[in-house]
Amino acid sequence: MEIRPFAAGDLTGCGALLAERHRRHRVTQPLLSPRFEAVEAAVAELTAVFKTGDASGAVAIRAGVPVGFVLGAPKTSPVWGPNIWVEAAGQAVTDAEVMRDLYAAAATRWVDEGRTAHYVVVPADDADLVRAWFRLGFGQQHAHAIRPAERPVVASRADGLSVRRATRADIPELARLDLELPTHQGRSPTFSAGRVGTIEESLADWADDIDNPDFATFVAVRDGMVIGSAIGCALEKSSSHLSLARPDNAGFLGFAAVFPSARGTGAGRALGEAVIGWAADSGFGSVVTDWRVTNLLSSRAWPRLGFTETFLRLHRTIGY
Ligand SMILES: CC(C)(COP(=O)(O)OP(=O)(O)OC[C@H]1O[C@@H](n2cnc3c(N)ncnc32)[C@H](O)[C@@H]1OP(=O)(O)O)[C@@H](O)C(=O)NCCC(=O)NCCS
Repeated sequence: MEIRPFAAGDLTGCGALLAERHRRHRVTQPLLSPRFEAVEAAVAELTAVFKTGDASGAVAIRAGVPVGFVLGAPKTSPVWGPNIWVEAAGQAVTDAEVMRDLYAAAATRWVDEGRTAHYVVVPADDADLVRAWFRLGFGQQHAHAIRPAERPVVASRADGLSVRRATRADIPELARLDLELPTHQGRSPTFSAGRVGTIEESLADWADDIDNPDFATFVAVRDGMVIGSAIGCALEKSSSHLSLARPDNAGFLGFAAVFPSARGTGAGRALGEAVIGWAADSGFGSVVTDWRVTNLLSSRAWPRLGFTETFLRLHRTIGY
């Protein structure tokens, strides 16, 4: 087997490997888009990665035929450090063990370029591939997940709890709730580097956006007090869940937060169910969301609402 740098001439052969990976993935996650099972569509996604600034990677050739590849590119946001990202279209192998050779070759250049924070988005169904990455020093940072857009059967609500659409009068609470997610995720054990905005910024955003018909905002109310909020929208409004990780006609649970004193008493479930019901009524076929797996709250709440993992984001920092 020959391992060499990924080149333009590899796009077609590696696109075919990617299309085949996606076909296998859809056996366990049929809500993912069938579009990328077509070789031309997979080649187009791979070509987009290849054309990203500073993209590089490796390809494995056996008997003149590509049997695997990895292709990454850096993101400019400082949140990710001196990084390289292998996105949903950036890898496929016929034998998971080969990924360890591919990474060894590709990471030589990445680390030589000073890119020491590595992120890879791996199909969640491929246990052998995930394990190959684990044996390259990676651990799980994030989960992407999906469920059908079907109005949930709500057995009963906890006493005094209701959910309704947000109005302009809710803006002060919506703005405070905006800060709860980054505040929570900045703490142990998530330690996210995401910026916590200010209440003034949040109030101004809501004043502009509360009537935007592209976003369905819900509030959970208990004893007349707003205790939580959630936002649904079309997945197209999101900058994540891209390429092979973007299902067709999907709704998106883009945000949810409950004030700390009210957590763990059913408000998060009620808000999630409201967004799923809204997505069903709006004609979406599925609902997508994602979470930091180190966020002990969301990583427990969303699977309980029927979301199952599609892609895992794994992470490794070199140097220690
Ligand atoms: C995530 C969040 C919105 C969930 O809201 P919540 O009101 O705390 O959640 P709920 O009380 O409705 O619980 C949701 C589900 O998680 C389950 N759950 C909660 N804690 C659990 C635990 N320790 N172990 C197992 N399951 C747990 C609950 O049992 C419930 O499932 P069930 O209804 O089937 O029993 C809320 O905790 C929050 O604001 N967290 C901080 C911000 C955040 O992480 N937002 C989400 C960003 S992706």
